[in-house]
Amino acid sequence: MTENDFVPSGYSHQIKSGKATWSAPSNIALVKYWGKKRNQIPANPSISFTLDIAATTTSVSYAKLTQSQGPFSFELFFEGNPKKDFEPKIETFFARVEKYLPFLRDYHFIIETSNSFPHSSGIASSASGMSALALCLMDLDRQMNPAMTSRFFKKKASFLSRLGSGSACRSIEGPIVQWGDHDDTEGSSDLFGIGYPYKVHNVFENYQDTILLVDKGQKQVSSTVGHDLMHNHPFATQRFEQAHNNLSELQQVFANGNLDRFIAIVESEALTLHAMMMTSHPYFILMKPNTLEIINKIWAFREANKAHVCFTLDAGANVHVLYPEHEKDITLQFIKNELVAYCENQQYLCDKIGFGAKKM
Ligand code: PMV
Repeated sequence: MTENDFVPSGYSHQIKSGKATWSAPSNIALVKYWGKKRNQIPANPSISFTLDIAATTTSVSYAKLTQSQGPFSFELFFEGNPKKDFEPKIETFFARVEKYLPFLRDYHFIIETSNSFPHSSGIASSASGMSALALCLMDLDRQMNPAMTSRFFKKKASFLSRLGSGSACRSIEGPIVQWGDHDDTEGSSDLFGIGYPYKVHNVFENYQDTILLVDKGQKQVSSTVGHDLMHNHPFATQRFEQAHNNLSELQQVFANGNLDRFIAIVESEALTLHAMMMTSHPYFILMKPNTLEIINKIWAFREANKAHVCFTLDAGANVHVLYPEHEKDITLQFIKNELVAYCENQQYLCDKIGFGAKKM
């Protein structure tokens, strides 16, 4: 498929007004996306677990304007209150997707959004937020073209989400989503995420993710800046190649359920992501001392108990603790006894692998 396949060739129905509500989950990458080309095309393929509980719910009310083709017309409410500082993001998103949703200047939109997790928790809401918004707009797109298949609906929702925030394209479906061209994955695309198409061992069913909130402050370096620093990065070529190889190996791991290899790939990916940050120019560090304390505790516990708990990180100090469901009791006990002390205000969020966005 190409970008042009997402440009509507015309609409069969006219819609005056209405409202759509979608809840879209966050996701946690196992093989990380870090570095991009123009138009949010990833420099390497990535794969993630879709989460279940960490989600954004967005309602979009729309009413057709009598005079269209002026500036975008919308109001934005976050948790019930007008949110001016989110408006430029929406404006940029509308401008990027207008070609694929040509009705955007014809309506006044009221966007109401809220998260299932505290806003200042350091849990990124851009993936869940952008995908929930894209799904609401797709709802209107589909009403004007009811012949649209649900397969195309999901693809286009993922395609549009990607233009809002790259990793958001992995938040439409579940439980495992892959994004980015990869020779060993049929149907993979740089343009949208696809549900992982191969066999997954049942040890990954209900895989747990406890998110430890180590630092709830604003990140010093945004992911947009971080992605940019992969241009001319001294290790970029090797890193992008490594991501392709890790994805290929992960396919075997998903099939045979080898958790030792799973852990090795996932932890190496997390540390490589942060190593890329530390070796870019300018260099930066997003981990905090407590991030490292937690990692060391996880390693010691895993060794002592022959357990299968591991960690991953996104672009921040928080730690995602991943473990199979059959080790839930001992791992949660360990988290409460030994890790929660390193969280800001002892805060953490128990999540698990989920099945994708839902229409409300
Ligand atoms: O979607 P963005 O541009 O916020 O980038 C997300 C990048 C990571 O979270 C660090 C990795 C990933 O693949 O989700």
